[in-house]
Amino acid sequence: MKVGIIGSTGMVGKTLIKLLEERDFPIEELRPFASKKSEGQLLKFKGKDCKIQSLSHESIKNLNFVFVATGEEISREWTPILKNQGTYVIDNSSAFRMDPETPLVCPEVNSHLITKDKFVYANPNCSTIQLVVLLNALNKLKALTSVTVSSYQAVSGAGKEALKELSEQSLDPKSVAPKSFPTQIAYNCIPQIGGFDDLNFTSEEQKIRLETKKILNRNDLKVSAQAVRVPVLNGHAESVWVNFKESVSLQDIEASLNAQEGLHYLKEGYHTQIEISGKDEVYVSRVRKDPDFENRWLFWLVADNIRKGAATNSIQIAEKLL
Ligand SMILES: NC(=O)c1ccc[n+]([C@@H]2O[C@H](COP(=O)([O-])OP(=O)(O)OC[C@H]3O[C@@H](n4cnc5c(N)ncnc54)[C@H](OP(=O)(O)O)[C@@H]3O)[C@@H](O)[C@H]2O)c1
Repeated sequence: MKVGIIGSTGMVGKTLIKLLEERDFPIEELRPFASKKSEGQLLKFKGKDCKIQSLSHESIKNLNFVFVATGEEISREWTPILKNQGTYVIDNSSAFRMDPETPLVCPEVNSHLITKDKFVYANPNCSTIQLVVLLNALNKLKALTSVTVSSYQAVSGAGKEALKELSEQSLDPKSVAPKSFPTQIAYNCIPQIGGFDDLNFTSEEQKIRLETKKILNRNDLKVSAQAVRVPVLNGHAESVWVNFKESVSLQDIEASLNAQEGLHYLKEGYHTQIEISGKDEVYVSRVRKDPDFENRWLFWLVADNIRKGAATNSIQIAEKLL
């Protein structure tokens, strides 16, 4: 396969390259792309140097697969061109996620949407991916009515500059003015990821809400989200409250969690972001029934936002296509 990576120098792009090598994806040529400022730089793939190129109609020709790992504007411009030349595109940006024609895929949940005649696939938002892996297990209990989630999201989710900002600010908070975040992130929590809409929700919160319904194919499911950026380098955590229509037993929930592909259930204790960073699965623990509410259960969920939340999920889609 001839494979292109748009955004090859970023958090997701670099991890994609590492994982393509790790998972032995059959690659004859790896073609990395980035902005003009990175043009000509070399990066290593399977011990060989690959030269970073900038995007042009010429440079994207003859590629079987392209992973997009840039902002949505670049995807909106180049994804249709790639599709028209018969290249499969797996897009990590939000550009086409809510487009009714574009499958929004988390392979553990809706891999049936991956077919040879569909050329563009949207990778869900990182905080949505880990949530839907859990909800897919609970949805099998056939009585899931609503979900409330509060996230604790790592700075790596905001890209490589954000990671640098936290590292530098942690040494001396006043030395680095906030750039990637609305206010100081070191030693702080920020209840804003993305811009606010008319309802005073952030774009991240609406992504979690709308993408979850689309992936589970459940427009009737009520989803309420509050997204918070925390001064953690990597890995997103989520507190999740789930309501069922009828009474569900712990045994039934545990059986469903244990049967869910890509989900690791811990009966005692819990996982933290540091422990799961660098792993490809979603981790759930602290499962308990809420004593003051009827048929409501609580869960603690963590996953690596760069791996399962982006790169791993994208490669799983490409592997299914192969
Ligand atoms: N980080 C996460 O956890 C995560 C999870 C899920 C989805 N995503 C999404 O994935 C995408 C990438 O995120 P990221 O965190 O990897 O961002 P990032 O670390 O900021 O990297 C951005 C990449 O885009 C490249 N780029 C910028 N302008 C370009 C241009 N004009 N042409 C070609 N390449 C260009 C940059 O190249 P230069 O180095 O040359 O500037 C860099 O390689 C975003 O849409 C993000 O929302 C991220």
